[in-house]
Amino acid sequence: MKTDHWTAARICALKGHERIVSLTAYDATMARLVDEGGIHLIIVGDSLAQSVLGYANTLPVTMEQMLHHTAAVVRGAQRALVVADMPFLSYQISDEQALRNAGRFLQEAGAGAVKIEGGAFRAGTIRRLVANGIPVLGHIGLTPQSVLTLGGYVVQGRGEAAAERLIEDACAVAAAGAFAVVVECVPQALGAALTKACPVPTIGIGAGPHCDGQILVINDLVGLTPPEATPRLAKRYAETGAMMREAIAAYRRDVSSGAFPGSQNIY
Ligand code: KIV
Repeated sequence: MKTDHWTAARICALKGHERIVSLTAYDATMARLVDEGGIHLIIVGDSLAQSVLGYANTLPVTMEQMLHHTAAVVRGAQRALVVADMPFLSYQISDEQALRNAGRFLQEAGAGAVKIEGGAFRAGTIRRLVANGIPVLGHIGLTPQSVLTLGGYVVQGRGEAAAERLIEDACAVAAAGAFAVVVECVPQALGAALTKACPVPTIGIGAGPHCDGQILVINDLVGLTPPEATPRLAKRYAETGAMMREAIAAYRRDVSSGAFPGSQNIY
């Protein structure tokens, strides 16, 4: 193991002491930049589907694609804990299937943990993975692999009964052994209540400021996602897409005019 590396256990122990800062990454270049930024935890999200592969949602992503990108992120990250997102239908069919596929992320890609979506009904699977030495990050609230049954990317946990169910989900996932739980798209008051009730860290995305940590999709943060597709929960800290467009246009002008390559670019 790399020295001074963030582990699932160390991240779990941050609850109540230090806010957890997390981002997604999908390749070694992004992982290196994120890691150098002092981020605790990198999720190789299946948001890879939209951010990199051009799909409309996360459902088409395969194990092989996730393994390929997770291995690249592991190569780029020195200190951050790399969490591989288990893709749709890689853990839902049986606990045996979940164990075999989760183990591949550790053995073949070098991930430090896996993430799976689902609340109390997923507790048995989480328990099985953790009992076999695989750290698990839970994911409740808006679970994008269920976008078709949820009826879209809509806020979850509105109303007393739904909020109560999500608090039970967070506690069940923690009791099953998850080292932390991602909470996506819930009202901020519920994000706060969940965080108070849950014994392990909550990592919010669209869950308000009271979670134990925050996660964003890197493409949203750096402005690679088109503005009209950037969700309300994200903050654009840079306009990298616009910068790239300008750089490409300048290159095209220089090649057309003969200004590139210049004297400093030739041998
Ligand atoms: O797929 C993803 O990127 C995620 C994170 C945003 C939590 O699930």
